[in-house]
Amino acid sequence: MLDDATPPPLPGPSALRTGAGPLPLVVGGRAVLDGSVVEVASPASPTGGRDVVHADAAVVAEAASTADGARAACAAMSRRERAQILRRTAAYLESHIEDLAVSLVLEVGKSLRDSRGEVQRCVATLEAAADAVAELGGREVPVDAVPVGAGRLAFTTWEPVGVVAAIAGFNFPLLLAVHKVAGAIGAGCPVLLKPSERTPFTTLVLAEAVVTSGWPPAAISILNGGPDVATALCEDPHVRLVSFTGSSAIGAKIAERAGRHLKRVVLELGSNAATIVAHDADLSLAARSCATGGTASTGQSCISVQRVIAHRSIADDLARRIGEEVAALTTGDPLDPDTVIGNLISPAEVRRVAGLVDDAVAHGAEVVTGGVDGGKLRPTVLLGVTAPARLCREEVFGPVIAVLPYDDLDEAVDLANSTPYGLMAGVFTASIDTALRLARGVESGGVHINDTSNFRADNMPYGGVKSSGIGKEGPASAIREMSVEKVITFRLPA
Ligand code: SIN
Repeated sequence: MLDDATPPPLPGPSALRTGAGPLPLVVGGRAVLDGSVVEVASPASPTGGRDVVHADAAVVAEAASTADGARAACAAMSRRERAQILRRTAAYLESHIEDLAVSLVLEVGKSLRDSRGEVQRCVATLEAAADAVAELGGREVPVDAVPVGAGRLAFTTWEPVGVVAAIAGFNFPLLLAVHKVAGAIGAGCPVLLKPSERTPFTTLVLAEAVVTSGWPPAAISILNGGPDVATALCEDPHVRLVSFTGSSAIGAKIAERAGRHLKRVVLELGSNAATIVAHDADLSLAARSCATGGTASTGQSCISVQRVIAHRSIADDLARRIGEEVAALTTGDPLDPDTVIGNLISPAEVRRVAGLVDDAVAHGAEVVTGGVDGGKLRPTVLLGVTAPARLCREEVFGPVIAVLPYDDLDEAVDLANSTPYGLMAGVFTASIDTALRLARGVESGGVHINDTSNFRADNMPYGGVKSSGIGKEGPASAIREMSVEKVITFRLPA
């Protein structure tokens, strides 16, 4: 049971900065310091770690029941009120951009410039969600087109699905949470947010951000913790939809657990993203874009440029150009504003990614730049990666770009589709015919012409096919996923 004494204040940006004491949970808009305290190390600085309070099953149940009690208040809010809350939340984050960016560096290890970019994208996402709130409207249903509907009028409305459980990944802790929370506010749903246990700091400020912006306190909880918290969320009877971003393996478990309780799921999962470069492409643009698209956020992105499928006539030249571009990007202390490529989240991830590079080399790949040196991984470009190499199928999630040659467009499409994934893809070509053929042939949630798989405008529909996920994010899509269409029919006077 939670105690009723005056709670500590909600954690704001200054709590992230000072480092004094453990970071609390937020349960129904109240900061809670009761619970087991877990130390989380920083991948960016030996002094950047923090203690955080973890939730347990009882706290999840309390938060879910409090959220359920807030359903009616959230559903009763007008679209205008919800849009205003989203805009105020955007302004809140914008006014604390530096504190939030430094906190992201400390918990993820990526560079300050990537982290600032993440906060700016959060602001844009919330503003786009405010715009999207007005887009979701019902329609007239022409029921009198079938015999039984004669003499009737019908229309649909969209209603909030109910309590949303949002389970975010570690690579963009604030942005992934914002996409889910913005969708929930836009749809009028209370939200229970579980950040990744690896990155439990920055996201906590979302509670203060939304509550001071007018969102009912009971309708936001932020529940740090491990897989037991995710399981409790998937099984809680008050939760109606689980929105998860993370690996395909965990996504499958979430779908299974939530499905057992007949909850909806939205899953944004892994990838092994391909960018196809045709013989007629602008090679400077392609090389520059692949280099940044494969190393942004230290490659810890589901849409990072992992496989560059290049026409054989330009593959060598392109790989060398990408290598030169990558080698020119500054690596180093993630907190240094000049650093472009920061660290991976943990030494275990460095070992895993290095293992994939070693495996590709063992299968015949040439290291164009980077590679593994004494267990240390440098941003890497590989040429001549062969099909048996694990990185042709698995997700690397690190700064590694593999260039694979193709001979004709059918082969390019086959290579792009030869993985279990299909999130986003890129195509570089000067030919509209080639662009359309590849855009239609590649199995993925999106294809970007003359850009890489790593292009994302936060207001576009975002989600994958195959093992990359179920459902869509992007504010308008998330609001729709978190809403249910209701049909209302009238028997008209005779
Ligand atoms: C992801 O890795 O899931 C998100 C990537 C992005 O939004 O840029």
